[in-house]
Amino acid sequence: MKDYLIDTHCHINMIEEFSIEEILHNAEEAGVKKIIVPAAYAADIDVVFNLCRKYENVYGYLGLHPSEVKDWTDELEERIIEYSSSDKIVGIGEIGLDYYWDKSFNDLQQQIFIKQIKLANKLNLPINIHDREAHKDTFDILKAYNKGSVVIMHCFSGSPEFAKECIKEGMYIALGGVVTFKNAIKMKDTAKIVPEEKLLLETDSPYLTPVPYRGKTNQPAYVKFVAQEIANLRGMSFEEIQDCTTSNAERILGI
Ligand code: NI
Repeated sequence: MKDYLIDTHCHINMIEEFSIEEILHNAEEAGVKKIIVPAAYAADIDVVFNLCRKYENVYGYLGLHPSEVKDWTDELEERIIEYSSSDKIVGIGEIGLDYYWDKSFNDLQQQIFIKQIKLANKLNLPINIHDREAHKDTFDILKAYNKGSVVIMHCFSGSPEFAKECIKEGMYIALGGVVTFKNAIKMKDTAKIVPEEKLLLETDSPYLTPVPYRGKTNQPAYVKFVAQEIANLRGMSFEEIQDCTTSNAERILGI
């Protein structure tokens, strides 16, 4: 039985209140042994890669967030390919569609999303998906273009019905701090129905801080509150949720 947690999506490079050493120390104390840091901005490609090289329990996803796709270049793609030869780079992410912030370049978002899916396929790496108010297009594009990469729906925000559709396609559902919010009924319902072998935990630090620290800066240590809430909702023990989510992450990410 796995006796530690994994935070499968956290931007530790964006946490301003603590140093990286403090963040990793707090995580360790909270029983969080492995941390996956996604790239979002173009500049993150180097930042994430360097964090992975420097810290043993830090792994990375490389890619461009949908809001940042105007920065996509051939050179960037070359660098992602080069860095991905490292064992510490465990996926392409966070990539996908975001129709919430700016709808003026949805076409470009889709184009670069498809490019990055193909890149993940070529490199035989999992894909970490950002989908905000773009459930249908995200799903349809993945279904049409993804050839064999494991798909993780990061910070899943759809309905339980949508979760079921994703799971039917073999995708993984990663849940974060929102599940602890009192009014997040949809998310709590989703947490109850995802099969154990498809469930992952994350914080999306520094955002979406779980109760009881809601409103403060998030950090990987707080993934334990996400695990506890999901355990409560499912009538399972903390240890059972820890075991299945950690096993899933290690299996699909090869860590
Ligand atoms: Ni993120």
